[in-house]
Amino acid sequence: PAQTKSEYDLVTLTSFLLKEQAKGTMDGELAIVLSSIAVACKQIASLVTRAGISNLTGLAGAANIQGEDQKKLDVVSNEVFCNALRASGRTGIIASEEEDLPVSVEETYSGNYVVVFDPLDGSSNIDAGISTGSIFGIYAPSEECAIEDMDDPEKMMQNCVLNVCQPGSSLLASGYCLYSSSTVLVLTIGHGVFGFTYDSQIGEFVLSHPDLKVPEEGKIYAFNEGNYEGWETGLRDYMDSLKNASKWGGKPYSARYIGSLVGDFHRTLLYGGIYGYPGDTRNPNGKLRLLYECAPMSMIIEQAGGVGSTGRGRVLDVMPEKVHQRVPLFIGSKKEVEYLESFLK
Ligand code: AHG
Ligand code: MN
Ligand code: MN
Ligand code: MN
Repeated sequence: PAQTKSEYDLVTLTSFLLKEQAKGTMDGELAIVLSSIAVACKQIASLVTRAGISNLTGLAGAANIQGEDQKKLDVVSNEVFCNALRASGRTGIIASEEEDLPVSVEETYSGNYVVVFDPLDGSSNIDAGISTGSIFGIYAPSEECAIEDMDDPEKMMQNCVLNVCQPGSSLLASGYCLYSSSTVLVLTIGHGVFGFTYDSQIGEFVLSHPDLKVPEEGKIYAFNEGNYEGWETGLRDYMDSLKNASKWGGKPYSARYIGSLVGDFHRTLLYGGIYGYPGDTRNPNGKLRLLYECAPMSMIIEQAGGVGSTGRGRVLDVMPEKVHQRVPLFIGSKKEVEYLESFLK
């Protein structure tokens, strides 16, 4: 008889990774890194939920290399991620929004993966209890520079930067965890996109969104229109056209923007439409960082059948020069992103 699925036959992140490993789509070492990231996300979910009653709201009193005033939870989340990756024993180098330079991890026994991450995305939302997230990407170590032969610090640093500055097209895996009305970990290892909802009663991420695909088109746009005046003309014309009811059968697009890339992206992935963070006169390359925000999200959207663009090309094709470099980002349904690109030709 056909294998009946009992209600107790749930698929957790762990069983999913074991099955992928059995299928040969990923190796066990990578599964270990992903499991350690999931543990970090569970810890951060708990910290975020209780921020207001554990004195973890507000500023840390320091700035990061991006010139942002770090929130206490930016710093704590970064430590949680670094500790979890170190404990995995499979991580060679890490790069974080909250670390000035890439860090080489001594406690590597095997695997040697390069992990880039934004430990807490949308952290300005923390004090108001609004959605935040974590974003991560995993690369194989680059062949050019083995991490072993590191005697002088200068060479060490150059090799670390070389190892993290890989194009998004080389990502082995990428994902994010949304901390919102529910905690959802969304992941791709290059064979489709899978969402796991955290069940605090059993302490597991349970498969809730198998093989996610972004709708071909949507009716929502997510841009910070406060920057409209600084946008290039083509972009202003694009935004004006989305609001022109007569162009869309009498119903213009809706605006939704919560100031957290993870939250705005997750809604775009599920409902369709477009998220954009353009360059403007003050910041020609926009605000979002290529390595640990734009590239991982672009791998996910492409695996889900959508588009991740800088406005003038594929995000995954951009070769990073600097760890914290920024690029404009337009990401979501094929129709809305390609329509935008037609205004920027
Ligand atoms: P982070 O909190 O990791 O620094 O990222 C914040 C980013 C992104 O999450 C969000 O979409 C964007 O900043 C919001 O920027 P504006 O407030 O300028 O719209
Ligand atoms: Mn930040
Ligand atoms: Mn961010
Ligand atoms: Mn951040």
